[in-house]
Amino acid sequence: MDFKLSEEQISVRDAARDFAQNVLKKGVIERDEKQKFPAEEVKELGKLGFLGMMVDPKYGGGGMDCISYVLAMEEISKIDASCSVVMSVNNSLVCWGLDEFGTEEQKNKYLTPLAKGEIIGAFCLSEPEAGSDATSQKTTAIDMGDYYLINGTKNWITNGGTASVYLVMAQTDAKKGSRGINAFIVEKGMEGFTVGAKENKMGIRGSDTHSLMFQDVKVPKKNRIGEEGFGFKFAMKTLEGGRIGIAAQALGIASGAYELALAYSQERKSFGKEICKHQDVQFKLADMATGIEASRALCLKAAWLKDQHKPYGTASAMAKLFSSKVAMDTAIEAVQIHGGYGFVKEYHVERLMRDAKITQIYEGTSEIQKIVISRAVLQ
Ligand code: CAA
Repeated sequence: MDFKLSEEQISVRDAARDFAQNVLKKGVIERDEKQKFPAEEVKELGKLGFLGMMVDPKYGGGGMDCISYVLAMEEISKIDASCSVVMSVNNSLVCWGLDEFGTEEQKNKYLTPLAKGEIIGAFCLSEPEAGSDATSQKTTAIDMGDYYLINGTKNWITNGGTASVYLVMAQTDAKKGSRGINAFIVEKGMEGFTVGAKENKMGIRGSDTHSLMFQDVKVPKKNRIGEEGFGFKFAMKTLEGGRIGIAAQALGIASGAYELALAYSQERKSFGKEICKHQDVQFKLADMATGIEASRALCLKAAWLKDQHKPYGTASAMAKLFSSKVAMDTAIEAVQIHGGYGFVKEYHVERLMRDAKITQIYEGTSEIQKIVISRAVLQ
């Protein structure tokens, strides 16, 4: 077992760390407060190659491995989880899905600008009545010969307002259940496609989350991804990798909160000594450090399996389940260590605590990860 990172992986991690510390940090509180999308910052991320990290260089990507992606996600998420969710969705749900399953034409037309970060993408599976129960898609895609006619509503779509390209799952043949679902590439501006109001969220407030409406949207047949009826499997396979990204986001939130709490505990004094000299604080720090180490190991293991082309669905569900709990627990304790200061925005930990919660909800709730894991252990 070799835990050593390659020089290339270390330089990716260091570049992400520099960017997070020197570019993202300064406006992060204001963006959170004003729900301001990090447009300039995302553009810069694209220039650094962080929006299509794992994509084949032939299509504008970085040709990097999934371990590098985890390392970069951790560093960006330590500082700005609103920015890292944009990065995660674009990399693992949109670019990876197109790179793996798209046609040559789809890759040239859509994947290349997405991987270069010239445009961003969104992944549209959730609906008002189909979140965890993703097979119950109500959005329909009727086969009209040369095109499909899409009708319905999607909810909670990350990058909903800022994306130019949307991967949309819809039901073509309800009798076939999940095997009747298709996945489509929908462009912003297609007639009948409208973006709803932006959600006012508790956390990741800089990212833009919208509902989307489709009314008789004509999507050319060549925009279907994969064979007829492949849409549900496309979504599930893509989410397996997406969950590694969100697990790494959770890891970053946890390590960001921990680093702040550790530094604060060494400066702040109470009862005549630095608070890190009180055993209660020491025990908290020990629990946080151990959780983060275990979370990082699970994230890197899932990424390593993906890089080795071995099955990674169970590992990614475990990484997400565990890391999101560590993020929540660590952020809560980081606020506690900061006392009253933890409750105010300038100290960053309250934002990390609010941001942590979504990692237990999106790309499959913790309960969904337990379904995936228990099915694997019981088979
Ligand atoms: N890979 C390939 N195929 C898979 C698969 C996988 N990982 N998981 C399921 N399938 C296949 C099954 O083999 C089955 O195929 P057959 O019909 O050929 O046998 C088919 O898909 C249906 O599978 P299930 O019977 O297992 O389906 P289910 O209804 O029991 O649901 C589930 C399974 C795991 C609960 C799934 O519905 C699920 O993951 N739900 C959560 C959805 C989710 O994560 N949503 C997040 C939205 S995206 C998001 O949040 C992005 C963002 O903006 C940040």
